[in-house]
Amino acid sequence: MSTCPPLLGSMRFGDWGARLAPREVADLLEAALDAGVDTLDLADIYGGHTTNALVGAAFALRPGLRARFRLVAKIGIVTTANPINTRGLPYYDLSVAHLDDALDESLRTLGVDHVDTLMLHRFDPLLRVDEIAAWVLDQQREGHIGTFGVSNFDAHAIARFDGVLPVAANQIELSLAHWAPLEDGTHGATLARGAEVQAWSPLGGGQLLDVGTQLGARLQPALNAMAGEFGTDPASLLLRWVATVPRTRVVLGTARADRLADAVLACTTPLPHDAWYALWEAARGHPVP
Ligand SMILES: NC(=O)c1ccc[n+]([C@@H]2O[C@H](COP(=O)([O-])OP(=O)(O)OC[C@H]3O[C@@H](n4cnc5c(N)ncnc54)[C@H](OP(=O)(O)O)[C@@H]3O)[C@@H](O)[C@H]2O)c1
Repeated sequence: MSTCPPLLGSMRFGDWGARLAPREVADLLEAALDAGVDTLDLADIYGGHTTNALVGAAFALRPGLRARFRLVAKIGIVTTANPINTRGLPYYDLSVAHLDDALDESLRTLGVDHVDTLMLHRFDPLLRVDEIAAWVLDQQREGHIGTFGVSNFDAHAIARFDGVLPVAANQIELSLAHWAPLEDGTHGATLARGAEVQAWSPLGGGQLLDVGTQLGARLQPALNAMAGEFGTDPASLLLRWVATVPRTRVVLGTARADRLADAVLACTTPLPHDAWYALWEAARGHPVP
């Protein structure tokens, strides 16, 4: 059972969500620490390449704040239009040349000299594991990164690093809106390598609480009934469902300080077995086989 506090995700801090000012981000980060969350999830593409700089500005405003956080940084998605990316659409680039530039840029915009975990954001079939491993070891020796992780890597993708480089974590989508990793081998393959699972979009990006969606409407009766029985609320039950999966840490998506204490409590309070299955069945719309 998971007893680990969640991470706080930064994806919705800026232009892709709440459009917080640096002072508001600093307030949110202090509230996270007060609630027991000391790990921040970052990615260079968030906010269209603006959110790392927003977090950096928040760190600069509050001396001592950065030192209290562990940072998980993701790189590897290219979105910027350039002479060869004439479509301007995203693609993945895990070449060492790109990783090197993207890590430098992440450290510079965050205003930090290292991150605790560096993750490859998406699997790139063109990746060369030996080159990446050599580059990661260099970066570790130079103190720019701590552990190495991946994100959205399925069982086959994560296996590419077997015997080459230890993988500390795999950040994947996992919720009552997306449980495929529990059935397709992704979750099991991650744990088999001793890596931690970090579950993104635990509320399905908010759709699981929205009765205007088909899934939200299907889940609502079960969530409301169970919330009454457990003396909690639907959002907490959804977070508890994810956090109950072994060795799985939730990546919270809220940009509101007032939600954090309840969220941390939920993520450290596993659901009983029968309640976990009852919610899964409600989301599936039919019993497990
Ligand atoms: N590795 C990847 O490829 C990947 C992909 C996507 C996301 N992520 C990471 O995962 C993090 C979480 O993803 P997510 O933002 O989609 O998470 P989520 O928790 O599924 O969705 C968060 C959204 O739900 C809303 N919400 C509505 N009611 C809420 C309630 N009662 N409690 C909490 N939130 C409520 C939040 O609004 P409020 O702000 O008003 O609370 C926010 O807009 C991201 O910040 C990012 O760090 C990683």
